[in-house]
Amino acid sequence: MKNLIVGNWKMNLTIGQSLLLSERLKNNLKNPTSDIVVCPNYVSLAAVSIDLKDSIIKVGAQNINANDERAYTGEVSGPMLKGIAKYVIVGHSERRIHFGETNKTVALKVAAAVRNKLTPILCVGENLHQRNEGLAGRTVTDQLEENLSELTHKEISKIVIAYEPVWAIGTGENAEPFEVEKMIKTIRRFLINKYKAKIVVSIKLLYGGSVNSDNANAYLSIDNCNGLLVGGASLNYRQFTKICQL
Ligand code: 13P
Repeated sequence: MKNLIVGNWKMNLTIGQSLLLSERLKNNLKNPTSDIVVCPNYVSLAAVSIDLKDSIIKVGAQNINANDERAYTGEVSGPMLKGIAKYVIVGHSERRIHFGETNKTVALKVAAAVRNKLTPILCVGENLHQRNEGLAGRTVTDQLEENLSELTHKEISKIVIAYEPVWAIGTGENAEPFEVEKMIKTIRRFLINKYKAKIVVSIKLLYGGSVNSDNANAYLSIDNCNGLLVGGASLNYRQFTKICQL
């Protein structure tokens, strides 16, 4: 299976800066062996999508509303993203923590993405307290149980899952590869036990949390780890290019 490298630009870059970055990536990424996705902010999304139209780099959104149409000021829905984005990040810990997204909300957003033919990149991961209490595995499988609850068994194959331990995000404190390997195994086992092995075998499992061009290879070497969700380092075209060409 081809690896998937996703750059989450978060709430960074103006339209001009986003276009500069997408141009630089377009010009520097030569025949990457992985599938590449960048997720600009909503203001820059359409411009970057047009800029990357004929490029190997695909575009993702950072959020989606669970409803397709409603009087919800400031929200963006699946039908609006169709044609602009191919992927959408759902359930990122920053949205769970700062914007009150519950497991139920995340489940409805995952379903909205699939309904609108967007590939959800579902983020799961334990916080530091849960890790210290030895509850990391349980936290992640509980999240999966709830976050996938609005999908049919058939739809399960249409998702990507990113394991992003909350304590490793933006801290420079990346998880040890052996810890990631353990969690990736836990996630794969959970999926196989719950759904048909044939359906879940193609689901890509990514790692995210303080990934940079120095540590990326260690994660990509993990058995069953199918890619990376990169935050800070994806804003630097040299670093991101390097990660994409590993
Ligand atoms: P950093 O790579 O900046 O730690 O962010 C990870 C992340 O949250 C990607 O979604």
